[in-house]
Amino acid sequence: MEQNSQKKIAEMIRVNHAGETGAKVIYEGQISALKIKGDHATLKIVEKMYQQELVHLSYFENKIKEQKIRPTVMQPIWQIGGFALGFITAMIDKKSAMACTTAVEETIDVHYHEQLNELEQIKEDDNCEVKTKELVDQLKSEISKFREEELEHRNIGYQHNAKDFVLYKPLDCFIKFTTKLAIGISKKL
Ligand SMILES: [Fe+2]
Ligand SMILES: [Fe+2]
Repeated sequence: MEQNSQKKIAEMIRVNHAGETGAKVIYEGQISALKIKGDHATLKIVEKMYQQELVHLSYFENKIKEQKIRPTVMQPIWQIGGFALGFITAMIDKKSAMACTTAVEETIDVHYHEQLNELEQIKEDDNCEVKTKELVDQLKSEISKFREEELEHRNIGYQHNAKDFVLYKPLDCFIKFTTKLAIGISKKL
């Protein structure tokens, strides 16, 4: 059972590391496009979210090293895809950039919510080592904090008219589908 818990935790850290890398590069893509467009007002909003993503990513980067977990082999693909997604959506207009944010952050919110439940399950497992329980507690507290911030990001997207983007629905569906797919792949690969 203990081995099973450790495997699950390793998958969680791997997928979160991939996800936060994705978030980082999406915002980097948006920042590059907004600089080209000279949209300083939107840039300010996006940069604030970007700074928080850097904190999220650095936590999982440390965990990957500390727990000696292999990062996903898909990392380079997510980096290129994420940057392109951010760049293109921000080049179209501010509303589509915000629609990208709402779709991504909503998917991450569901993902983190599920993970928090899973971590609770692991903790309830009587065979769990003290060391594992401590790691679970730490992950729970950090993920809860990050989740709050992802929800703030989602709210910012809606406040800035994500839903008014003409292709909101198809873009939302496309991004949610690809993000979920990337989550599934990053757990295992
Ligand atoms: Fe994040
Ligand atoms: Fe976020």
